[in-house]
Amino acid sequence: MKYLKLATMISATILSTFLQAGIEEGKVLFKEADCMRCHKTVDFKHREDKINSYLILSRSVKACARNSAAPWFDEDDESVTEYLNKKYYHYKK
Ligand code: HEC
Repeated sequence: MKYLKLATMISATILSTFLQAGIEEGKVLFKEADCMRCHKTVDFKHREDKINSYLILSRSVKACARNSAAPWFDEDDESVTEYLNKKYYHYKK
């Protein structure tokens, strides 16, 4: 039982480290792709009629990444979505 608890603690730490790495990567990608040449910080907020869930946010990131020709893979879209979500939207996945 003791080991189980330890194993759970370790895997939770590893998981949050990965998540944090994704968010950090998202921040860098977002900066490199110069997304803010069109956007302002105030754009990134919850709006019931527009961006109202993690899924919709992730679709918008994808659409914008393709439109602005950011050379991103799916994992990169995901990292940027996580970054924007952590910083601005705070949706549950
Ligand atoms: C050429 C201009 C342009 C660039 C560059 C751009 N976007 Fe957008 N983005 C838009 C427009 C236009 C919308 C839609 C706004 C609306 O519906 O009112 C939008 C919407 C969004 C939304 C939904 C929130 C909102 O404001 O409606 C997100 C999230 C987003 N973009 C992320 C990104 C990311 C990430 C990048 C960088 C890869 C990026 N955008 C680059 C023009 C741009």
